[in-house]
Amino acid sequence: TPPESIRNFCIIAHIDHGKSTLADRMLQITGVVADRDMRAQYLDRMDIERERGITIKSQAVRMPWAVTDEAGVEHTFALNMIDTPGHVDFTYEVSRSLAACEGAILLVDAAQGIEAQTLANLYLALENDLQIIPVLNKIDLPAADPDKFAAELAGLIGGEPEDVLRVSGKTGMGVEALLDRLVETIPAPVGDADAPARAMIFDSVYDAYRGVVTYVRMVDGKLEPRQRIQMMSTRATHELLEIGVSSPEPIPTKGLGVGEVGYLITGVKDVRQSKVGDTITDQRKPAADPLPGYTDPKPMVFSGIYPIDGSDYADLREALDKLKLSDASLQYEPETSVALGFGFRCGFLGLLHLEIITERLTREFGLDLITTAPSVTYDVVTDTGETVSVTNPSEYPDGRVAEVSEPVVKVGILLPKDYVGTVMELCQARRGSLLGMDYLSEDRVELRYNMPLGEIVFDFFDHLKSKTQGYASLDYEPAGSQTADLVKVDILLQGEKVDAFSSIVHREKAYSYGTMMTERLRKLIPRQQFEVPIQAAIGARIIARENIRAIRKDVLAKCYGGDISRKRKLLEKQKEGKKRMKMVGRVEVPQEAFIAALSGD
Ligand code: GTP
Repeated sequence: TPPESIRNFCIIAHIDHGKSTLADRMLQITGVVADRDMRAQYLDRMDIERERGITIKSQAVRMPWAVTDEAGVEHTFALNMIDTPGHVDFTYEVSRSLAACEGAILLVDAAQGIEAQTLANLYLALENDLQIIPVLNKIDLPAADPDKFAAELAGLIGGEPEDVLRVSGKTGMGVEALLDRLVETIPAPVGDADAPARAMIFDSVYDAYRGVVTYVRMVDGKLEPRQRIQMMSTRATHELLEIGVSSPEPIPTKGLGVGEVGYLITGVKDVRQSKVGDTITDQRKPAADPLPGYTDPKPMVFSGIYPIDGSDYADLREALDKLKLSDASLQYEPETSVALGFGFRCGFLGLLHLEIITERLTREFGLDLITTAPSVTYDVVTDTGETVSVTNPSEYPDGRVAEVSEPVVKVGILLPKDYVGTVMELCQARRGSLLGMDYLSEDRVELRYNMPLGEIVFDFFDHLKSKTQGYASLDYEPAGSQTADLVKVDILLQGEKVDAFSSIVHREKAYSYGTMMTERLRKLIPRQQFEVPIQAAIGARIIARENIRAIRKDVLAKCYGGDISRKRKLLEKQKEGKKRMKMVGRVEVPQEAFIAALSGD
């Protein structure tokens, strides 16, 4: 297809504003999916995506769309729709998908208005110089207020409220007009057809049958089957086994040229060999410079993952190895814990990413797991001037700390104005510093804060939702790091550290963390033959203490003089119970107690 007849676009929207539904309708109206094959959320392949109604991996689809010019001549265009993930954890993937387009549909629910992710994605789209097409969705809803939100949208991006299109992804109303508008306003791609090939990878998906399927946007030159290609970040070369377009099923082609969007297969088995953001070139005639913008995704949130049954350790390792094939951003390394045994320290892009991975491990691999409280990376400068990165609080270099810095994020919160006071209090309590506040309309406000990421990973979102009856939405992006007065709080049972409960917190919050955990454990740990002190400590200084009183547990006394088989049964039963006990020093703790204490139940 010549570049003049190509339009590359994506849909950016807040979660639940109907992106997938609109995409489905476009597939149907352009005829690439027959009505009888249509099922809801055609493009969301993963079960977990479908169940939660969220899109995790982006994909591209090519759709033909014919428009008639003034002279009555029909022209057929190739519309490439690039689906982008909507969640903050996946901002890097969103930005790569946007870089593959010339235009974006800014989709807003006509009953909800602009939300935090609408704004975050809009800013990314503007940074990529995309032509923005504002669209209100769900106008079939009785609660829709398109006039009000058309004004809000026009105010946000400039332009007139009348230019805001109104559609319903559900009924299909307005969708044809939207397709016409895409052709009319989005610029055709430009590139040098004679230059050495350059293709940008905007997605890489693991397929059990075909190996890694790489989605690319051609910028310059051409790629053809059987050619040897080179990844510019690693210099690795591969043979191009297949190249084609998705419509939405894969259709092999004789090649892809300037401005085209499609997939390619090289036989690699691991998405790390075909990284999002990397540039592909021709090995024999390589381009001088890669396309801009490549960075390795960096994990922001860390958590220990342990099998509840220690004998599942090998299965857990195997499951993580498998997930890694399809998720280049997942990181893990073995770790041992006194309380939890053998497991892995895993790094995630954010909290949703963590949740998705643990849920897949549980569901797809049938593993029973326990995860420790999420933590961020702290950079600690020790008294000898050495800098160490700490992702596991139990590795904090106690007593040798000269300075600690913690990651900071820029947070955007959108909320109805009535909740501004409550939310400001919450942000202040989480050590936020206000950057600014804007009215988007009469009753909707955007609050901007700088906040430590460590304060957000610890149930901030739940608190925000409950304090605003679910009306607030949140987005954040990395904003460097800052030094802070942080300390490590340890929890000790009879003087022995329980590593899984160590936490790095702000000095002012150390006491409340200590009392919360010691109280929680006192209620959960059964009495022993001796008294067990539970303490919270900063270094050698005890900041909180509880006691579990001793009992005399002489089970055999009960059977004194009784028959021997009953006695044996009782002993066996005790042994059984002991298997699921963990020893912390001399103290026996049922594993359930650890699980309950970690999950806060
Ligand atoms: P992500 O892909 O996770 O970002 O979500 P999404 O934006 O794709 O939302 P999705 O298409 O899953 O739609 C969210 C909800 O809104 C679903 O329950 C849809 O049925 C509903 N919905 C979507 N479009 C319309 C519409 O035009 N009218 C009505 N009434 N409901 C809609």
